[in-house]
Amino acid sequence: MSRKPIISGNWKMHHNHFEAIQTVQKLHYRLESDDYEAVDVTVHPPFTDIRSIQTLIEADKMKIGLGAQNCHWEEKGAFTGEVAPGMLAKLDVQYVIVGHSERRELFGETDEVVNKKVKAVIANKMTPIMCCGETLEEREQGEAEAKVERQVREGLAGLSKQMVANLVVAYEPIWAIGTGKTATAEDAEAMCAKVRAVVADAHGADAAAGVRIQYGGSVKPGNIVELMSQTDIDGALVGGASLDADQFAAIVQYRNH
Ligand code: PGA
Repeated sequence: MSRKPIISGNWKMHHNHFEAIQTVQKLHYRLESDDYEAVDVTVHPPFTDIRSIQTLIEADKMKIGLGAQNCHWEEKGAFTGEVAPGMLAKLDVQYVIVGHSERRELFGETDEVVNKKVKAVIANKMTPIMCCGETLEEREQGEAEAKVERQVREGLAGLSKQMVANLVVAYEPIWAIGTGKTATAEDAEAMCAKVRAVVADAHGADAAAGVRIQYGGSVKPGNIVELMSQTDIDGALVGGASLDADQFAAIVQYRNH
């Protein structure tokens, strides 16, 4: 089974809606229709930008996929400050990042919470991009594989094979996020292969063959080619470099480098 590459821009808490519009317009200008045929391109702006970007994508018939960075798992209720998955789906959001390490480390999201969110995103006909990854300390203590395995098993628990085959897992070693340090292509490949093996064990061969696995952590135009040449790396989750349309376009166009 051939998996279509997916390259996603996680803007984190950057770009107000004016800056977001400019960035997406510039990105659209830089990308060719061939790029969208070869790669699924998604942008994940802050919530306050989503309506503006939805309108822009629709008006100009852009093939950029609209994404969010998080959501709650309940459909509605007394959850001050939270956003329901159904509200995102109504804005034509197609992808939701779930369990980013910043959510886990800074906002206390557990595997159980991540699992509820993954299910809620799927129930609303959107695609989760479920993140996993170890800290430097965990890597140094030889605990990286066990942690990632647990995150993948628990995060995807209770899903059907079909659901798993259609979602995205992002392996992001925490020590590589925003630090300029990237995992070597070999280390990134080894962990992405591990993720696929865990999916195969938990959900079967078809799910493992279909699930798309991104690498994330200081992805730049200069390292994307080597990362994308690995067998089990199907794409990238890009933070810092996705804020700049030129850099992000250069990453999406890795085939031309
Ligand atoms: P980075 O962030 O590319 O800035 O390292 C990646 C991420 O956190 O998704």
